[in-house]
Amino acid sequence: MPEISGNIKGIKNFVLNDLQKLYDFQVDKSQLVSVELCLEIARLTQEINREISVFLDRSGKVEAVNVGDSNTVNLPNLNSRRGTTRLNGYRCLHTHPDGNSNLSSVDISALKLNRLDAMIAIGVVQNIEQSELSFALLTGIDEHDDFLVGIFGPAALTEAEQIFFPNLVATVEKSIAKNNGTNLADGHERAIIVSLEYQGMGDMLGWTMEDSLEELKQLADTAGAEVVGRFMQKRPKPDPAFYIGHGKVHDLALYAQANEVDLCIFDDELSPAQQRNIEEALGIHVIDRTGLILDIFAQRARTNEGKLQVELAQLQYMLPRIMGKGLSLSRLGGGIGTRGAGETKLELDRRHIRDRIAYIKTCIEKVKGVRDLHRAGRAKANVPTVGIVGYTNAGKSTLLNTLTNSDIYAMDQLFATLDPTSRQLNLPNNQEAVLTDTVGFIQRLPHQLVAAFRSTLEDTIEADLLLHVIDVSHPLYEEQSRAVYKVLEEINVKDKPIITVYNKIDKLPDDSNLAEQLAKEENTICISAKKGLNMDNLLKLIAEKVKSKSLEADFYVPYADSSMVAKLHQIGNVTNEEYLEDCTKVHATIPAMFEEQFKKYIK
Ligand code: GTP
Repeated sequence: MPEISGNIKGIKNFVLNDLQKLYDFQVDKSQLVSVELCLEIARLTQEINREISVFLDRSGKVEAVNVGDSNTVNLPNLNSRRGTTRLNGYRCLHTHPDGNSNLSSVDISALKLNRLDAMIAIGVVQNIEQSELSFALLTGIDEHDDFLVGIFGPAALTEAEQIFFPNLVATVEKSIAKNNGTNLADGHERAIIVSLEYQGMGDMLGWTMEDSLEELKQLADTAGAEVVGRFMQKRPKPDPAFYIGHGKVHDLALYAQANEVDLCIFDDELSPAQQRNIEEALGIHVIDRTGLILDIFAQRARTNEGKLQVELAQLQYMLPRIMGKGLSLSRLGGGIGTRGAGETKLELDRRHIRDRIAYIKTCIEKVKGVRDLHRAGRAKANVPTVGIVGYTNAGKSTLLNTLTNSDIYAMDQLFATLDPTSRQLNLPNNQEAVLTDTVGFIQRLPHQLVAAFRSTLEDTIEADLLLHVIDVSHPLYEEQSRAVYKVLEEINVKDKPIITVYNKIDKLPDDSNLAEQLAKEENTICISAKKGLNMDNLLKLIAEKVKSKSLEADFYVPYADSSMVAKLHQIGNVTNEEYLEDCTKVHATIPAMFEEQFKKYIK
């Protein structure tokens, strides 16, 4: 008969009997804990006012019961799987009689020392059903070869019962293996990509499913995954539980198993429930297009503001996914869809998520305030602003670099630029302008991102002129262009003067007359930003457009209105001033919006 180890002195026989019966408990193998077992050890803890530890193996069987703190436990003779990348296959569920579920340093060192699957602590309170639990997992290995620990909770027992344990363990082991440099796929996650065609799906703006899936593959490459398979499915409408249907998910599961796939990416936004159901059926990470784009953004954000915006979008995306079924922790550890922006680690506890969202929003407001000031300063100085927009990878940063002789990060990767970058632009008529590059657009840009980046895009919204850069060498350039217009509509940028800049003409075949044809359209120019082709004409066109945004004239201001001379200095660029008999003659360039007010001074 298995023993009760630890400090059992003075414990009455009938309690010892009940402790013995803990060995008969069986936790479902999909669960981290069962409420039933938690309540029983909480009840027994109240009887003896000592800690009780129960060790469970991966099948949910109770392997050892111990009285005393988690460090005094004689671990069962765990036939432990002692590979360096493996956990030992046992988790410790134990009680804290003082009602506090916080894990102690003793708990954490026992977790590390024994490489446990999890260390779980129940803070036993008077009404045991109200007891909460916290748990800790090993989530990786740091540069000093020490284990990193993630702590979660406190959570209600009923909530904790919902956690799908096998996924959690698989993710943790993968994460440890990765940190240990022993990842199966040489640091790449092996991914499959999946799309569904159904009646009544949103407007694809001319994209086919294949096009969209090809773009998803590029996004996955950008995020660092290796795409090993693609699947397309047709249905009259998406399955509410499994999106592509249960049968197809089953096929995917077999494929994933046979091909050591770590990640499954869907080319559409899944509901939190669909994502969870598919994840449970496949036993691997499942993310959707939005999750993938957010992940790329998280990797790319460089400025403080960019990081804050990405984190905000990520948290807003995650919140319903965590709310649905207690703590859904399948996205734990490293890997695509789990990365925070920059140094920030993504928060998985929904209480903290809400606080963090509120905090980030106030930070963004502050940064935005500073930016508004800059923008107001520019408006006052009457410096026209030119915003560059375009589909991701169209060549926006390259154009900014070429036009302003600067050195902004340009890479053949999607979303290389996230943060707005402004540079001074010298125009041929000696005028100056400010040129701003913004985040690349993409078809079906996640709405969380549109919202989060609204303040970044404000530079674009407020610009006097937009350059819409299009990669004309891309087979889908027209579709990409439509997608950009759609986003511009979403952020309410309509009726703004736009120059359409067809870029990468150097990549067109020699016998193509596409560039010639396109150049005939109004407000259009064909260039190569990389080779510097046709830059002079582009600059002339910009100068022309920007000039019409301002008014250059001689203003004859009567001495009685001398305050208006001061105003001309304030709003415009005054290049000459003469005192005539009855007025001051001021030569100035002023923003067109002041034309009404000043036209009476023009002769
Ligand atoms: P995102 O940051 O993703 O929005 O991209 P972007 O629009 O800023 O594009 P970027 O300037 O980073 O350029 C993308 C790729 O296209 C880089 O590899 C550039 O070298 C290349 N590229 C840009 N302009 C030209 C061009 O005129 N001709 C050719 N052949 N390649 C170009």
